[in-house]
Amino acid sequence: MGVTQVPEISVGSCDRTMPVIGMGTSTNPPPDPETAKAAMLEAMRAGYRHFDTAFAYGSEKPLGEAMAEALRLGLVKSRDEFFITTKLWSSFAEKDMIVPAMKMSLSNLQLEYVDMYLIHWPVRLSKEVTNMPVKKREYILPLDIKSVWEAMEEGKNLGLTKGIGVSNFSCKKLEELLSTAKIPPAVNQVEMSPIWQQKQLREYCTQKGIHIGAYSPLGAYNTKWGHNRVVECDVLGEIAKARGKTPAQVSLRWLYEQGVSIVTKSFNKQRMRENLDIFGWSLTEEDSERIAQLPQKKGLLFADVIGPYDISLEIDAEI
Ligand SMILES: NC(=O)c1ccc[n+]([C@@H]2O[C@H](COP(=O)([O-])OP(=O)(O)OC[C@H]3O[C@@H](n4cnc5c(N)ncnc54)[C@H](OP(=O)(O)O)[C@@H]3O)[C@@H](O)[C@H]2O)c1
Repeated sequence: MGVTQVPEISVGSCDRTMPVIGMGTSTNPPPDPETAKAAMLEAMRAGYRHFDTAFAYGSEKPLGEAMAEALRLGLVKSRDEFFITTKLWSSFAEKDMIVPAMKMSLSNLQLEYVDMYLIHWPVRLSKEVTNMPVKKREYILPLDIKSVWEAMEEGKNLGLTKGIGVSNFSCKKLEELLSTAKIPPAVNQVEMSPIWQQKQLREYCTQKGIHIGAYSPLGAYNTKWGHNRVVECDVLGEIAKARGKTPAQVSLRWLYEQGVSIVTKSFNKQRMRENLDIFGWSLTEEDSERIAQLPQKKGLLFADVIGPYDISLEIDAEI
């Protein structure tokens, strides 16, 4: 089986280009490290160079092992061929903890720098939080965006990451961040798919030069936090049939045509390759119009993950 060449794009203030599709690494529960490492190596063989991990996923170490192995095997010539995104966990979202958290992720990944470091969630969690949902309201604290972002900028200036950005940030939170940021966020990674198209947020981010990274592009099909409304969508199914593709490919192609980057997870050899086969063909204008009209529903709600507290409900309600 061949190796797909994935197109790369510039993303705002990031010092290097990003492959438009990346391999997600979030599973619940986390897989055993050998399974995860083997899946990531298989993804590298298929052509994935962009990997999306996070301290919270427990996937940094197996990804680090897989990268080291890929270098040993000659699957890649140098570390620069990879684009690695990882994320600041909310328990470390405090000014003095951020550079140490970056260094801890680098140590897990066996790297000297990552390519993108994101604030994972727009909240801070106290150290009492060990799992979800959070047991007490007082364990969830507002994020001090100004001081947290200063420390993110420090990490970039120290060379620990090529780019800094955010995840799950609304227009309102981005506005607050931009009012004091010296380095604007390169990326806002958010849920996006044909059934949660993020029109307002995308318009705002385009105006401000912030790139959108789409997560759960297949609606996190068959996961604990996911649903079947993308992969089993009738309209996507009809378009897929007409194009000789699968509904998953139609969703991924549609995202690519919107100019966003994508992170999608598959640890299955066939499906991870299927998900790369989104180049060299396109949707028709009529396909895009049909997709634009799909009913919209958010998949991942903070209130479901953290617990239905005022602060999580507020985040869910912000656009
Ligand atoms: N920043 C954040 O807060 C945040 C939140 C959620 C996710 N993410 C990131 O985004 C990544 C992707 O999102 P996600 O994992 O939630 O969801 P996703 O990529 O939409 O869906 C993944 C699920 O779909 C299945 N799948 C993959 N390809 C398929 C295909 N072609 N046909 C049918 N099923 C397919 C996978 O199973 P198999 O493995 O069995 O193929 C897996 O169960 C995550 O892994 C994570 O890295 C970030």
